Amino acid sequence: MAKQFDVAVIGGGPGGYVAAIRAAQLGLSVACVDDWNNAQGKPAPGGTCTNIGCIPSKALLQSSEYYEQVKTHFVEHGIEVDGLKLDLGRLLARKNTIVKQSNDGIQYLFRKNKVAFLHGTGSFAAQVDGGWAINVSGQSQEQLVARHVIVATGSLPRALPGLPFDEKLVLSNDGALGIDPVPQTLGIIGAGVVGLELGSVWRRLGAQVTILEAMPDFLAAVDREVAAEAGKRFAKQGLVVHTGAKIGEVRPSADAVDVLWTDAAGAQQTLAVDRLIVSIGRVPNTASLRADAVGLRLDERGFIAVNDDCQANLTNVWAIGDVVRGPMLAHKASEEGVAVAERIAGQHGHVNFDTIPWVIYTSPEIAWVGRTEQRLKTEGRAYRAGSFPFMANGRARALGDTAGFVKVLADAKTDEVLGVHIIGPMASELVAEAVTVMEFRGASEDIARICHAHPTLSEAVKEAALAVDKRALNF
Ligand code: NAI
Repeated sequence: MAKQFDVAVIGGGPGGYVAAIRAAQLGLSVACVDDWNNAQGKPAPGGTCTNIGCIPSKALLQSSEYYEQVKTHFVEHGIEVDGLKLDLGRLLARKNTIVKQSNDGIQYLFRKNKVAFLHGTGSFAAQVDGGWAINVSGQSQEQLVARHVIVATGSLPRALPGLPFDEKLVLSNDGALGIDPVPQTLGIIGAGVVGLELGSVWRRLGAQVTILEAMPDFLAAVDREVAAEAGKRFAKQGLVVHTGAKIGEVRPSADAVDVLWTDAAGAQQTLAVDRLIVSIGRVPNTASLRADAVGLRLDERGFIAVNDDCQANLTNVWAIGDVVRGPMLAHKASEEGVAVAERIAGQHGHVNFDTIPWVIYTSPEIAWVGRTEQRLKTEGRAYRAGSFPFMANGRARALGDTAGFVKVLADAKTDEVLGVHIIGPMASELVAEAVTVMEFRGASEDIARICHAHPTLSEAVKEAALAVDKRALNF
């Protein structure tokens, strides 16, 4: 007889595995089905984030940043290094070890929380007495029955029409994490998060990187001032970005790729590169679910259609993360996973879409939460803005990392913080304070009156909040 569970989670990424753990914490019996294999064919739960996304890219960003620091910035500290060498094999092996630690960590957490882990592809078989029959095919071959199903199957990289990823010359975020040797020339289509982060990695390691972006504006979704500062800094580092590019034919040969494209002025161009990364967004991953067979409704863009509570159109079927509407961010998926597990357990899980932080792990880092200045203008909302440059922050000067600024946007009347935009050192960590204040619906005056340790980068956040009221102390 099929094993019966309260909850079956299909997909073990940051949405699915977190949902499974939270449901188990709440006393529910839980199975999590995930089909990711590592290079040895062993289970590798953690999804895109752990295997070919957030975690390995941050490992490469750190290694390549150290390399660049030694090569170009140590001398400013009076440290001279002779005979600097890059051991790319070791650098990549370190990244693989970190991924494996995360895969193993998730399996440990499953055991600790008594979540049954099934290594295989989960699909809907039928609605049955007691809930949904789920087929698992792969290394585990079985059928289980669950009262509730949480679909967390994530997303896949979007290919250019007629140009499938071969992961040798034409690379998705997957192949882009293991290019060996470092290419002399690297082309990237799409100046989004993946393009900028992986472009930074390979540039620091020695590649000449050219990014072609379709939109006329660089980082169109980002606050305009931040985008302008980022554009300036990246250009100085040697990252070439062409906006308003229209991609024509792409011709891979044996060991190179020619990209025919039209520039913003309408002139025909050819970009000849050793490798090409295509990072033009991602598409929801639903193909193996048998959605049609059970009548699970997808929206017009192929995402599983859900309401605000992540409920799909079928009884007791939920969907979270990249496979549903909203930003494709690991932490958004995890928050939805927790909220759904709590709803299944009869609690009142909640996700506040207005306080989901964004981070781009370039150098300088870019992080923000809430509304951009351009959005406030479009909405016709009266606001006050305060900025503070890292150049005027003692800790940033001591670090030798003074690029960028913090900008706080607050309602003109109530002073409620509406958005915080940071470009600079450790922006990814600094944004947490802004998220906390916004979650409590705090004012810029609240940040301004909180005691921040000196000397820290976080003082730049306080100073930007003071600047909203034109009373910054150090600028
Ligand atoms: P993205 O949506 O961030 O950027 C795609 C870029 O490609 C956009 O600027 C778009 O205008 C451009 N584009 C689209 N079609 C094009 C074409 N035909 N020619 C030229 N440019 C074109 O998507 P990306 O970078 O692929 O990342 C995928 C997802 O993964 C994103 O939703 C992102 O949020 C997530 N992610 C998040 C990270 C983070 O939080 N730090 C890191 C990496 C990925």
